[in-house]
Amino acid sequence: MLVLGIESSCDETACAVVREGNEILSNVIYSQSKVHSNYGGVFPELACRKHVDTLIPAVHAALEEADVQPEQVDLIAVAKGPGLIGALLIGVNGAKSLAMAWDIPFVGVNHVEAHLYAAMMADLPPLPALGLVISGGHTFMVKITQIGSYEPIGTTQDDAIGEAFDKVASLLSLPYPGGPAIERLAKQGDASRFCFSPGKVKGRPWDFSFSGLKTSVLYAVKGPNAQKETPLKIAQEDKPHVAAAFQETALGDVVMKSLNAAKEFDCRSILCGGGVSNSMRLKELFHEKNDACIPLFFPTPELTTDNAAMIAGLGFHLYQKKGQGDSLDLEPHCSRKALLNY
Ligand code: KG4
Ligand code: ZN
Repeated sequence: MLVLGIESSCDETACAVVREGNEILSNVIYSQSKVHSNYGGVFPELACRKHVDTLIPAVHAALEEADVQPEQVDLIAVAKGPGLIGALLIGVNGAKSLAMAWDIPFVGVNHVEAHLYAAMMADLPPLPALGLVISGGHTFMVKITQIGSYEPIGTTQDDAIGEAFDKVASLLSLPYPGGPAIERLAKQGDASRFCFSPGKVKGRPWDFSFSGLKTSVLYAVKGPNAQKETPLKIAQEDKPHVAAAFQETALGDVVMKSLNAAKEFDCRSILCGGGVSNSMRLKELFHEKNDACIPLFFPTPELTTDNAAMIAGLGFHLYQKKGQGDSLDLEPHCSRKALLNY
């Protein structure tokens, strides 16, 4: 079965052709990060306009790269949420239109679930697995019993971890996306020169909170009770130390919570997805702290950030399970609280 995947939930317009759920024939990603880099984050209206311009060219490019004709496509899978509602509407309506024009079914796929599937695409990990999604929009821990069956364990009460990287990067006048810029700068820094604490959520040991950490960084670099607009107070040479200390605190928190949750919830492996799992320091920390030697699975870099191959791959499994496509009434979902089984 050949599936055309479409992803437009945030600032990547992506299309891919995947055979039988895991053989990637093409994986086209038109990133908009340059468009948003001046704003320190994604500017939703600009994201929507860019998706309108690039969706159909991305479809053509994905078919051409896969050497597949439209009439050979059996199914269209599209990210239906969570994400920016305007951006999702463009992908979902594009998928519906193509499905009607080509007279084939389409399925809506949960974007967060697809990030987890990305780490399973090459090899199925030992199940049950602890799934960790860490991206610009999401921070989730779930127990995966099989593809399509998830028990939520923890989520963020405020910012997503990638969002915290992006906001701290903006405080340090680094470009968007902030994660890679912070990782680069942190390499020249000494994390012990600044002391930050990970966020704790009362009565919810598996949940995350990053807004307090972000505020601690703000006060450390601009002075107590400073606002975002306040100019930097620290010396230029201290910036790498701040980046390193923030990175160790934020990544250390997700690593320790995941390793502990895997033990507590009897998981046989850990798999990570989402843009932040691109971090080399995250992988090092996982390996350093993994006393129980639990098998760790990370997607390949091109499947880590937003892409349509993971959408097409998971769409294949959903379609097999349901035996039919979704109705044209399907509406996208923007709530990030609506995790996996909506
Ligand atoms: O998965 P993704 O492409 O989009 C969402 O679904 O949100 O993730 C993008 C996020 C951004 O916040 C970016 O700063 C972060 O992933 N990111 C990183 C790294 N590379 C990307 N965060 C920390 N370290 C990195 N090396
Ligand atoms: Zn994502």
